Amino acid sequence: MSNAVVVYKSKYGSTEKYAKWIAEALSADIFKSNQIKIDKLEKYTTIIHCGGLYVGGILGFSLIKNNYPKLHNKKLIIVAVGATQKKEDAVEEVKNKNLTDEMKNNVHFFILRGGLNYKKMNPLDRFLMYMMYKSIKAKDPEKLDNDSKGVLATYGKVVDFTNKKSIEPIIDIVRTNC
Ligand SMILES: Cc1cc2nc3c(=O)[nH]c(=O)nc-3n(C[C@H](O)[C@H](O)[C@H](O)COP(=O)(O)O)c2cc1C
Repeated sequence: MSNAVVVYKSKYGSTEKYAKWIAEALSADIFKSNQIKIDKLEKYTTIIHCGGLYVGGILGFSLIKNNYPKLHNKKLIIVAVGATQKKEDAVEEVKNKNLTDEMKNNVHFFILRGGLNYKKMNPLDRFLMYMMYKSIKAKDPEKLDNDSKGVLATYGKVVDFTNKKSIEPIIDIVRTNC
């Protein structure tokens, strides 16, 4: 057993790709979030949780959040994988929605860019994206932010923005003593 573990939950594969890249780079153990229980997770000193972003929530994150009292002295790295292009704004929004104040001060947090795959999407996700598309379409095109423009430009398509290089800061954090 290595002393780092990657735990992930992915619907359409982008998060899984990042989780595997990170685990490979660190020679870390890797589990889907429903394949590992807290008693096993506690044995690692570094825990990297990777979860797809869905309506601002991080998939699979309840395993970490619900067991945080047992994990607060670990090196914890949270990686949310979303379609957003916003950097600092999205980081703050997602942290505020998912992390407690104590966690915000104690974990390392990253957002990496995934993709959108309308071919694989289940009917509910497809419907949610359709509603989002319709509401953006109804707005003044001159006032749209880049994320909204992105939803319009990629609607109905298969797009993949995953980038192996973007895991480098995460690998650095694991390897340093902070
Ligand atoms: C219904 C739905 C809601 C989404 N909500 C968000 C979101 O709030 N923020 C974001 O950045 N991306 C959002 N996305 C995009 C996904 O996070 C993106 O497709 C990501 O790559 C998913 O990872 P996965 O393939 O591992 O499931 C959403 C996608 C769908 C289909």
